[in-house]
Amino acid sequence: MTPLDRLDERLPAEVRRVVERPTPIPTLAAAAARARAAHPGFVRADIGQVVGVDPAQEILYGPPVGLPELREALAELFGRTFPGAADLDLGPANVALCTGAAQGLSLLFRCFGAGGAVGLPRAHWANYDNAVELAGGRVVPVDFFDRQGRLDAEAIERRVRGEELSALVANFPCNPTGASLDADDAQRLAAVARDTGVVLIADEVYARLRYDGRPPQSLLPYAPGHVVVVGSASKEYMLPGGRAGWVICARERLTDHVLRRLIRASTASPNVLAQRRLLDLVRADLSDLRAGLGSPRRLETLRDAMGGRRDALLEVLARHDMPPVGRPGHPPTGTIFLVAALPPWWDAGDQEFCEAAIAGGWFSAIPGSAFGLPPSARFSFGSMTMADIEALDGALSGMRAAARGLRDGP
Ligand SMILES: Cc1ncc(COP(=O)(O)O)c(C=O)c1O
Repeated sequence: MTPLDRLDERLPAEVRRVVERPTPIPTLAAAAARARAAHPGFVRADIGQVVGVDPAQEILYGPPVGLPELREALAELFGRTFPGAADLDLGPANVALCTGAAQGLSLLFRCFGAGGAVGLPRAHWANYDNAVELAGGRVVPVDFFDRQGRLDAEAIERRVRGEELSALVANFPCNPTGASLDADDAQRLAAVARDTGVVLIADEVYARLRYDGRPPQSLLPYAPGHVVVVGSASKEYMLPGGRAGWVICARERLTDHVLRRLIRASTASPNVLAQRRLLDLVRADLSDLRAGLGSPRRLETLRDAMGGRRDALLEVLARHDMPPVGRPGHPPTGTIFLVAALPPWWDAGDQEFCEAAIAGGWFSAIPGSAFGLPPSARFSFGSMTMADIEALDGALSGMRAAARGLRDGP
């Protein structure tokens, strides 16, 4: 039996209490909706929302795990996008919409990390720490790659067993480094989950933002009894303010029941306006894929723009002796970020580097140490135009001259 097949046993007692508590109000509301459909004159007095004063303005509460048609569209998109995913035969019940990937992650940490140890990749999105700790879990850093940049499945397995990890986060393509996994890596990581029983929380919010021409990878098809995927409208659909994300799991007990209860308990439902907008975009993607295009046109436009910026940024940073940092021997291949080594002329730390860059009016970047990396700087090319990237060249030259001036004196 896999951990997701034994889901209820894995849940902490307080989560199980919320999941098992009787829900008289939604049960009644569902019966009322059916009665209204059957009897047009049926009077509904069960829901706490204002209707009938200005119907054009109403955005009513939505279902806790999202609009059914969006769940269905995302299930189909997943099946058509990732190698091996079509065989999973996912449907709407395997998808739960949530308030950004952030909410999905928080709830998954509550389910699989509370009172236990959660493995995070050594270089990781800083908010994972907060979410794991808020869920009552303990963070354990895990090195995914060896010195040559190969996925070190043996070392990961040792760490999972040694620290008794209950869950392990895999975020590929990775924020901050842009490192991606190939099919062989995904296969080997999934085997670690199958051998150890750890739940893999696959944060795949950048899955399709990949610039090496290889197919996007999801971990789900490789270990459907162990992997839970988190996705987002924030990056691939450019809707971060919409706060729409989703969880996909091959075991619908998690998405259709457990998360339904937890989302209802925490935010009632995800943003309905954002879901409608996302539905239009996902449907456009699907119609391209059904028409036989290898990749949706909208996504190609985004990927071309981001790939162009990534190349230009790498070139500017190379001119300043700032090579990429991350998976050794592998240039960054995905996301909207890359991490660069500090220039040789800078002789203090990365926090100081980033502070000096802002104080001098040059540019902004985030210290790599904020992500658990050695001294370095993370640049978001998602937020830089091509003109900004060219301007960074001059800014780095100016900062270097200013730093030399300070050191050498007038
Ligand atoms: C790796 C990763 N996961 C999750 C998120 C959160 O996404 P959302 O905006 O959907 O909450 C981010 C946002 O930057 C991220 O970088």
